[in-house]
Amino acid sequence: MNQPLHTTGFLDWLDGQQSRQYDLHERYINPAFVKTIRTIGFDKGYVRGEGEWLFDAEGRRYLDLLTGWGVFALGRNHPRVRSILEQVLSRDMPNLVRMDCSLLAGLVAEKLVSHASGDAGGDLSRVFFCNSGTESIEAAIKFARCHTRKPRILYCDHAFHGLTMGALSLNGSDFFRDRFGSLMPDTSMVPFNDLAALEKALQSKDTAAFVVEPVQGKTCSVVADGYLAEAGRLCRKAGALLVADEVQCGLGRTGKWFAYQHWAGVEPDMVCVAKALSGGYVPVGAVIARPRVMDSVFDSMEHCVIHSNTFGQNDLAMAAALATLQVMEEDDLPANAARLGARTISRLADLGRTCPFVYEVRGKGLMFGIDFRRPEGSLKLKAAWDALHLLNEGVFSQTVILPLLHEHRILAQVAGYHTELIKFLPPINIGEESLDGFLSAMREVLEDLKRVPGSAWETVRMLAKGAAAQLR
Ligand SMILES: Cc1ncc(COP(=O)(O)O)c(C=O)c1O
Repeated sequence: MNQPLHTTGFLDWLDGQQSRQYDLHERYINPAFVKTIRTIGFDKGYVRGEGEWLFDAEGRRYLDLLTGWGVFALGRNHPRVRSILEQVLSRDMPNLVRMDCSLLAGLVAEKLVSHASGDAGGDLSRVFFCNSGTESIEAAIKFARCHTRKPRILYCDHAFHGLTMGALSLNGSDFFRDRFGSLMPDTSMVPFNDLAALEKALQSKDTAAFVVEPVQGKTCSVVADGYLAEAGRLCRKAGALLVADEVQCGLGRTGKWFAYQHWAGVEPDMVCVAKALSGGYVPVGAVIARPRVMDSVFDSMEHCVIHSNTFGQNDLAMAAALATLQVMEEDDLPANAARLGARTISRLADLGRTCPFVYEVRGKGLMFGIDFRRPEGSLKLKAAWDALHLLNEGVFSQTVILPLLHEHRILAQVAGYHTELIKFLPPINIGEESLDGFLSAMREVLEDLKRVPGSAWETVRMLAKGAAAQLR
């Protein structure tokens, strides 16, 4: 410990601690993580964030296309969200009385419902608040079981719904599931986008819900046209509920308020949201549900808080959510995401066609990724791919991620573990110019990939060797 922490001059004191950032994490939080980001040179020591930009201590700016895993849909430190939070903080609000009804929560619920219902959404007119995406999934699981009195939850391969035990039981990848003991019983995986498989799984008649991401976070795969409407029909026929997990793809990101609204006739029974709703300031999650589902859970005065959480509906989270929805409405951000997303995906696909390692560019709106594969044709390129994969499965993506950050100051992410997919989640209020900068950086990075041997390959080869030794 250095000096004591004073309330006045706190920020000066904090600045004085800056050099301890990584050491503190290494010692007290997660040394393996610190080792990882040091190994790949991602320890940039960011000190400020504004909109789509992050700044390091030397004032260099970095384009953030990772956005805290999708939290900063409005960019960092949005002035209108901050102003509303400051106003709420400046008043002695009663907050979390618990034996009372929060006005702010009611106002957020009203707005969420107005955007979720509409033409196809049916009567999604009740909202349950929690504090994260995974908690919204836990709530949806419980609500579905309680409403249908059935046990089974269906989920898709490659699904990601969070990492608490219930949500983890719906995870479509062994990487996350292994090592944590027995998960929730009565869950079954079905292949994504496969209606015949879904219909077969529903035949057992013991299914409470089918939980699905309209655009998968781990793969950027989009549901096929007609899939969700038919999945809903099959669920209804089997007495099961359709749950849309819109924690990542919801709230404007794909070009509509909710991704399921891209297709006619889709009527989910519950919609889970979180991430962007926070305005990037205060953790929050919500389930928007049909009244008949909620009414069977909260069916009496005795059961009126049978599912709840201590911090749900807190004033700061609700003010951040209200401000976020207000900004999205005023600036028509779903439309911005639709326009810029279509433009960027199409230009990125054009670039992809010039690079033999690119298998596919896919996604919707401002949620898109590039999937890489072993190239066809050139023996030299195939050999380079094989050599890297022998060293470390999935390290190939770093040949793109590393030059993007180190040469072009663009922060992006690999979509999952042992995958060749790089995902981009720009703020949905990003400008055209920033996306053009990204596209020209991608042009250079993809060109460089074709140079074998070349610096991108050599750096990652060294890294894969070093990391394999260090992280063991
Ligand atoms: C689709 C989806 N559902 C649920 C979650 C879990 O959200 P959280 O990390 O807030 O618990 C995530 C997180 O990435 C997600 O992408």
